[in-house]
Amino acid sequence: MSRKILIAGNWKMNGLLKESSELAKEIASNVKKMDTKAEVLVCPPYTLLWTVKKALRGSKVALGAQNCHTEEKGAHTGDISPVMLKDAGCSYVILGHSERRHDHHETNAIVCQKAEAALKAGLKVIICVGETLEEREKGEALNVCERQIKASVPAISTASNTVIAYEPVWAIGTGKTATPQDAEEVHAHIRKILAQKLSKSVASKMRILYGGSMKPSNAEELLKMEDIDGGLIGGASLKAADFTAIIEKVKI
Ligand code: PGA
Repeated sequence: MSRKILIAGNWKMNGLLKESSELAKEIASNVKKMDTKAEVLVCPPYTLLWTVKKALRGSKVALGAQNCHTEEKGAHTGDISPVMLKDAGCSYVILGHSERRHDHHETNAIVCQKAEAALKAGLKVIICVGETLEEREKGEALNVCERQIKASVPAISTASNTVIAYEPVWAIGTGKTATPQDAEEVHAHIRKILAQKLSKSVASKMRILYGGSMKPSNAEELLKMEDIDGGLIGGASLKAADFTAIIEKVKI
C-alpha cells in the first residue's frame, strides 16, 4: 500500500516574526529545488501563521497549527477556533500532542472533540499518541497507544482527512529515539486498532508518522519501516538545513 510520506515540522512555542519568515522562505526554496515526493508541512505558533503563510506563497509547503478549540466561536478567552485556522490559511492542525495532554490536561475525549470540530471546519488533523517512559518500562506501550487511538480518533476520520503521529513521550526533545523496530511494532499495532475502529481499507491508507528526536541521521532508517509514513519533527524542524535534510531522506 503506497501512502504519501508526510514530513511535518512542529515549531512548538518558538519563533519571532523576522526569523520565522526567513526560516519558512528557506524551507520553501529548498523544497522547490528538491522535487521531493513527500508532502511537506510546517506548524508554527498562532502569532506566526499569517507571516509564514506569506513566506510560503507559491511553494508546495503547507501550513498547519498546533491546537484548536472545539467551538467555532464565542466566549472562550485566549482560544482559537478551527474555522479561524482555516481562515488564516491552515490546512492542518496538530491535536493531542503530549505537551498539550500534559500542560493543559487534555483528555482523549477532548482531543476527539477537537478533531471532530477541526474536520468539520475542513482542516486535516494530526492526532498524536504515545506512551511515557514509565508506561514503556511497565510493558504498557501498546495498550496506552491503543486506548488513546480508540478514544481520540473520531468516527468521521478518513485516510484523507486524518493522520496519526506516534510520539513516545520519552523520545520527545530528549535526543533518545525509538529504534526503528520498536517504533514499527507500535505503528503496526496502531494500524491494527485503526482497522478495528474505522475499517481495514481506511487503516491501510491512513498515514502514521513517527515523532521524537527525528533528525537527519536517523530519519532514513525510521522512514524505511513498513508502517512509518513520515515524521512529526520538533527541534530539527527549526533549522532549515536539518529539516530539508530529513525531507531528502524520503525515497518513495
Ligand atoms: P522533537 O519533538 O523532534 O524535538 O523530539 C517532536 C514533537 O514533539 O513533535
